[in-house]
Amino acid sequence: MRFSKRLDRFGDEIFAALNNRRMELEKQGMKIYNMSVGTPDFTTPDYIKKALAEAALDDENWKYSLRDLPELLEAVCDYYEKRFQVKITPDMVMSVYGSQEGMGHLGMALCDEGDIVLLPDPCYPVFAAGSLMAGAEPYYYPLTEEHDFLPYVKGIPEEIARKAKYMVVSLPSNPVGSIATPGLYEEIVEFAEKYDILIIHDNAYSDIIFDGAEGGSFLATPGAGEVGVEFFSLSKSFNITGARISFLIGRPDVIAALRKLRSQIDFGMFLPVQRAAIAALRGPLEGVREQCRLYQERRDTLCEGLRSIGWQLPNGKGTMFVWAKLPDGRTDSMAFCMELMEKAGVIVTPGASFGPHGEGYVRFALVLPPEKIKEAVDSIRRSGM
Ligand SMILES: Cc1ncc(COP(=O)(O)O)c(C=O)c1O
Repeated sequence: MRFSKRLDRFGDEIFAALNNRRMELEKQGMKIYNMSVGTPDFTTPDYIKKALAEAALDDENWKYSLRDLPELLEAVCDYYEKRFQVKITPDMVMSVYGSQEGMGHLGMALCDEGDIVLLPDPCYPVFAAGSLMAGAEPYYYPLTEEHDFLPYVKGIPEEIARKAKYMVVSLPSNPVGSIATPGLYEEIVEFAEKYDILIIHDNAYSDIIFDGAEGGSFLATPGAGEVGVEFFSLSKSFNITGARISFLIGRPDVIAALRKLRSQIDFGMFLPVQRAAIAALRGPLEGVREQCRLYQERRDTLCEGLRSIGWQLPNGKGTMFVWAKLPDGRTDSMAFCMELMEKAGVIVTPGASFGPHGEGYVRFALVLPPEKIKEAVDSIRRSGM
């Protein structure tokens, strides 16, 4: 069978090759430190599990939900005001099956074939996948060390900016670990206003941010409500990645467009999951803050360890990832990752899998406790890499 040309827009899954080799090495008895995938090892708070379990006992909750419960929309609005000091109304909120799914479909609601969209490079893969599925033409704006791994709108050519339909921004950033600096969002809003570009901010890591910095909402920036929308995921803050709970928030016309598209293919979020989301949004936030502290401890352990064996200062100001330049002038990140796994049993993600500007770097996921991270660094030291 000849499958669709659409599929040809996507490369092969990078994790599959690494995973196959990992399983072989494990079978041979090698000790493996898997720091490649972004699934938290922390556990889900009991009050969230309980809300889901109780709701699941009610037969009514097993029917098509067909909509977001008004209580859920209100909980999101209240949370945005309390946590981010941003006032939103229920028509500015819709649930999605994770930011992954929402981002995957939003391009189709916004773009026609050939429309230009601005994406970061390195890029969290679904930003590109969603745009490519929509037939859009990505222009990749680089996140480089020279600009602290931050979007640099002045570097985007005027003729591209004039044609661009939307720009994806995501800070704290996966994979590069940078966070918004004062004035950056204002600059992006000004750029969006000047060229009539929609900003799609992916806010997956507002609660994992280090050294006293405060995670916020892009929508708190003056003018952002007119030019932007934001994906707000509960996955990482509450360790509920499998429950698929996220929201698109912001401009009502964009929300209505995505809702129209998704209503063709979707009957709404499972009601017990909606109840779990309400419990998370209305629950205490001390656990979330404590978890951030634990991530920072892991970041410190990893960065100090890598520096002690001669790596350059890695970038890790936020997210559950650390972005590190390959040591000893090495440049091929895929070859480096394979060798690191073979020799040290440490699995990390090659920077090149996030885009051309990721080459020469690797991404460590902070999914092991500090003592295991120390062991992993020791193993790298012993391998001589
Ligand atoms: C930047 C970014 N956006 C979105 C996601 C996925 O979030 P969700 O679980 O809400 O689909 C991730 C997960 O790693 C991520 O790193």
